[in-house]
Amino acid sequence: MIVIDNVHKAFGPKQVLRGVSMLIPEGETTVIIGRSGTGKSVLLKLIVGLLEPDEGTITIDGRRVDLMSESERYQMRRRFGYVFQGAALFDSMTVADNLVLGLYEHGERNTEVLREEVVRNLVNVGLLPDPRTVSASVFNQAYEILANKKPAELSGGMRKRVGVARALVGSPEYIFYDEPTTGLDPITSEQIDDLVAALTHKLDVTSVVITHDIFSVYKVAHTVIMLDEGLIRFRGTPLELRSSHDPVVHEFLERYAHSHAEVP
Ligand SMILES: Nc1ncnc2c1ncn2[C@@H]1O[C@H](COP(=O)(O)OP(=O)(O)OP(=O)(O)O)[C@@H](O)[C@H]1O
Ligand SMILES: [Mg+2]
Repeated sequence: MIVIDNVHKAFGPKQVLRGVSMLIPEGETTVIIGRSGTGKSVLLKLIVGLLEPDEGTITIDGRRVDLMSESERYQMRRRFGYVFQGAALFDSMTVADNLVLGLYEHGERNTEVLREEVVRNLVNVGLLPDPRTVSASVFNQAYEILANKKPAELSGGMRKRVGVARALVGSPEYIFYDEPTTGLDPITSEQIDDLVAALTHKLDVTSVVITHDIFSVYKVAHTVIMLDEGLIRFRGTPLELRSSHDPVVHEFLERYAHSHAEVP
């Protein structure tokens, strides 16, 4: 379990997080919502260790991150998969190379191992069929076509899936998604929501999703956390969110409710 205790973070004079405390239960999907610029991505970067808090602590399975040695932190980061805001794939690299870049940097050179990881995770995100359901030659053909494509040759939804597949490489226990549906049309957004929800169960991982998309909240969240002005404004289930009487919560729901959203 990840425990965030009284975390503060400023950039120069700009105080972004002002004392955030929360815990991320295992095996569930926690969704973080909040207005643009309120510190959601900063919070995610603090959790995964891309940024350091000015004050407060982050504890993972009972171990304080700030007290870990370099090698412990390195090991810990390998337990995290991160789907960056806006996919962030390398345009000059093929799909396969984008996926294995992290493993390669960690010293993995066995081409069979690398290919296995690419195959397994492209199947996991639904970009390739389950190899048990098609003939080997059809599967290999589909693999070769996709693995050798460059990100620019893919649709927005496919790029998101590749970004998710890359985060899954190395079998992380935690997957962090930063705005996985932003910029996608409603149908593709829903497919990505379905994927996020399915992966939490199928791979038995803990997921943390940042989103503006209120439809995603109802689709994937076990717990919703709303950040506002550097503090946690709301924590509860999606149903509790919907019935909240907090005017700030209300305003957010009104503003970000997509017209296509069928709120339960
Ligand atoms: N590395 C950085 N250096 C300086 N300021 C930063 C840095 N990272 C974030 N900020 C500032 O911190 C504030 C919060 O940024 P953050 O990216 O967390 O917002 P967000 O809630 O993710 O917004 P959005 O919904 O638009 O992605 C912003 O004002 C941003 O400019
Ligand atoms: Mg952000």
